[in-house]
Amino acid sequence: MELITGPSGVLAHVRGARRTGERVALVPTMGALHAGHAALMMAAREQSEQVVLSIFVNPLQFNRAEDLEHYPRDLDGDLDFARKFGVDVAFVPDVQAMYPSGTPIVQVDPGQLADRFEGAARPGHFRGVATVVTKLLSIVEPDAAYFGEKDYQQLVIVRRLAADLSIPVEIIGIPTIREPDGLALSSRNRRLSATQRTAAAVLHRALMEGRESIRGGADPVAAAAVVAGRVASEPLARLDYAEVTDVDLARPVEGTEGPLRILVAAEFGTVRLIDNVAARV
Ligand code: PAJ
Repeated sequence: MELITGPSGVLAHVRGARRTGERVALVPTMGALHAGHAALMMAAREQSEQVVLSIFVNPLQFNRAEDLEHYPRDLDGDLDFARKFGVDVAFVPDVQAMYPSGTPIVQVDPGQLADRFEGAARPGHFRGVATVVTKLLSIVEPDAAYFGEKDYQQLVIVRRLAADLSIPVEIIGIPTIREPDGLALSSRNRRLSATQRTAAAVLHRALMEGRESIRGGADPVAAAAVVAGRVASEPLARLDYAEVTDVDLARPVEGTEGPLRILVAAEFGTVRLIDNVAARV
């Protein structure tokens, strides 16, 4: 595995690979790698000749300075982990390499897609995500880029930005990797106390109950209330939102036709967790 820290180095490498007809995959991450990231790397490995993993804790997408400061960093551990999954290039730029003129004046605005859910809870977050993802796609020029369904709104925004800005890349969504009790893997889970960790399994249970109620004929509003009620039954959880939406997050859900997604967010102490499932496909 090659470690590259400069944008020009990674582009030269990738262009060289593509000249010989190789398919190039990009897996963007912020490090603190776990089995969720591994699922993205494995899919990329299977479907392409060159796998580029980026590790960059993007300051633009943190709306609270202390979250950025406390973001877990373990580069050596991450590089060892990435090697196991056959990554060819680890692209690990520093902030200066990504933003040489400081905060970019021109940024990518995800529009109304950033108004709800995580966007409402974290103002500016998705603008920072959309900007860094656009930069990574420009720097690496991958044929395909891999994102987790775990961050469903992020996946929808990235798909839409590639389409709306005509970026020639295939955006591939990978299903959420979970602990045995259903908790979605996240770098934030390590900040939960033992009791909070046990309580956090309520999110997945609530989503499953929401999905069941839709299967049983409940409308989206009633199903969202089922999810909210289940989360509220856990004393250590503070519900932020529980909603049933269309899969494009573009418009309010009407009636009982079409595929749906159930999204939930709650805080356990100071740790904010999100999760989602498909409800009707
Ligand atoms: P990060 O939180 O490191 O996540 C990197 C990728 O791993 C994202 O696409 C995320 O959805 C996926 N992922 C995380 N947990 C997962 C799980 N349990 N199962 C499946 N996939 C999972 O998301 C980001 O970084 C950043 O916003 C980034 C896209 C890199 C832009 O800075």
